[in-house]
Amino acid sequence: MFISFEGGDGGGKTTQLRLLADALRGAGREVVATREPGGAPGAEEIRRLVLEGAPGRWSAVSELLLFNAARREHLERTIRPALARGAVVLCDRFADSTRVYQGLGRDSGEGAPPEMVEALHALVIGLEPDLTLILELPPEEALARAEARMAGASAAQGGAESRFERFGADFQSRVRDGFRALAAAHPARCRLVDASGAPEEVQGRIRAAALPLLPELSREDA
Ligand code: TYD
Repeated sequence: MFISFEGGDGGGKTTQLRLLADALRGAGREVVATREPGGAPGAEEIRRLVLEGAPGRWSAVSELLLFNAARREHLERTIRPALARGAVVLCDRFADSTRVYQGLGRDSGEGAPPEMVEALHALVIGLEPDLTLILELPPEEALARAEARMAGASAAQGGAESRFERFGADFQSRVRDGFRALAAAHPARCRLVDASGAPEEVQGRIRAAALPLLPELSREDA
């Protein structure tokens, strides 16, 4: 079982992923909780290349190739072995982030062409999650949460990984529209989840969405 968590910045994916991992472990499942870009040693190195430095550091296509190189490492070394031994893989972002973010491009720059994004994915990744949970917040709330997080982060964390942090409500709403379009295009695997409210409320919505695939979530101790 392979589940990805997607959405704009500040939607609480990381917290929700951890809560779902705890519940599944409580129900006796092996869980591999991982993230992108990253999730394998080489992929974590590529993470630094793509998330740190000047916004214009990479061309749109080079950046697309780097995300795919990181994903291939992650797939070969972490995701496929975990799935092969029957673990549940929970992944903080996966290929849908590439479809949305690299498709949009940065600032005034052009994004990577969608046909190229899809062709490359088919060629070097070729795996889709069984379930994709897209956490959705109103753009203003997403922005407020992202700003609070940046203010709270240490200079080292907040300052370094800032290439993709966008504080414009306009960019946040383009990201949101991009994920909505994806959800509409892939209704069998994508679920839009309202990410507003307390973490426990959001977790309840997530478990309801995952229950058909993971019936052990209904167990008392989960
Ligand atoms: P991260 O700090 O993990 O952000 P978040 O907490 O919002 O998940 O940084 C990941 C950033 O990288 C995020 O802004 C989206 C971007 N990204 C892409 O542009 N393409 C991708 O394929 C992936 C996986 C992430």
